[in-house]
Amino acid sequence: MIDYNAIPSPCYVIEEDKFRKNLSLIKHVSEASGAEFILAFKGFAMWKAFPIVREYIKGATASSLNEAKLAFEEMQCKPHVYAPVYLENEMPEMVGLASHITFNSLSQFHKFYPDIQKSNKNISMGLRVNPGYSPVTTALYNPASPGSRLGETSGNIGKKLPEGIEGLHFHVLCENTSNHLELALEAFEDQYAKYFKQLKWVNFGGGHLVTHTEYDVDHLIQLLRSFIKKHKLHVILEPGSAFAWETGVLVSTVQDIVEHGGVKTAMVDVSFTAHMPDCLEMPYKPRIVGAIDAFEGKPAYRIGGMSCLAGDYMGNWSFEKELKPGDKIVFQDMIHYTMVKTSTFNGVAHPSIGLWKSNGSFQLFKQFGYDDYKGRLS
Ligand SMILES: Cc1ncc(COP(=O)(O)O)c(C=O)c1O
Repeated sequence: MIDYNAIPSPCYVIEEDKFRKNLSLIKHVSEASGAEFILAFKGFAMWKAFPIVREYIKGATASSLNEAKLAFEEMQCKPHVYAPVYLENEMPEMVGLASHITFNSLSQFHKFYPDIQKSNKNISMGLRVNPGYSPVTTALYNPASPGSRLGETSGNIGKKLPEGIEGLHFHVLCENTSNHLELALEAFEDQYAKYFKQLKWVNFGGGHLVTHTEYDVDHLIQLLRSFIKKHKLHVILEPGSAFAWETGVLVSTVQDIVEHGGVKTAMVDVSFTAHMPDCLEMPYKPRIVGAIDAFEGKPAYRIGGMSCLAGDYMGNWSFEKELKPGDKIVFQDMIHYTMVKTSTFNGVAHPSIGLWKSNGSFQLFKQFGYDDYKGRLS
């Protein structure tokens, strides 16, 4: 049980026990299925926790040069890389860091292939494809929507893959189940199996929420094993969310209570738009420790963020007692994506980052200050 009073506010706190539990499960799935699991930094890049990650899995996938450098330095691995576009001025450095480079289009592949070949760096190159199936209903997160810019169709590729491509990559899931993967695989095999004889590996992307309590892990293992047996290909999965799912919180503190037109808002030292942007973008209502959805007879509040954005609030929650300045408001499940998507909009103070250790103590990883804010601008 975290002692919230032992933590500076505001702060993102990852719980070591919960994190290790997720990592153990992912390692188990990898060993039982024969598929390789790598960590997608776009979903989780809390690098001070990477020594823990490295005890369970070795690889990472990066979506930019910065993430590739972080993987090299802090995961101590040569990352897989996939980005919707690569920049000419960045490619030479990328080639020195990566083990695999996956292209979003044939034109990007043709543009960079000759120089990567000449570099003699032994990079395995892949192509992202788009099987046109996705169970994701939120448009912002659906990579297979009509006209999607992500991945090539089999129609565009034609009869054969160009020489030099050793892998195919698809990513069409987001917090989905093994049944959704099964449907995605049907679409993928249907359209792309004709290219498999040219390949060494396939990457099933992310979105496999294997650490959700209701995820059917045995079904996933069976799907992976039978795909590997049938096609004799190395299979890679690159989830982000699943690694850090339900592993920590964002601790904040009430600063003020304001009331207008009968609506009470508890103003806190964090911001939805700057520190929990998915709440507004997805959108979804986060869970708060000790609070329930607004309930008659119990004190109810909106929670208001500290930026000037008019919509920087969410509601409504009920608490056991009236809130007052100094009370802690603890948002649940705020580790995956939340931390990597933060901004310093309005110059608001960035929450600290820390670890609640298995031995019941708190380790502060980082506190942010004026220099961090100023360093992002010029
Ligand atoms: C190409 C690719 N791989 C992996 C991931 C990680 O997905 P998730 O964090 O949902 O597992 C994403 C997420 O957007 C992605 O775009």
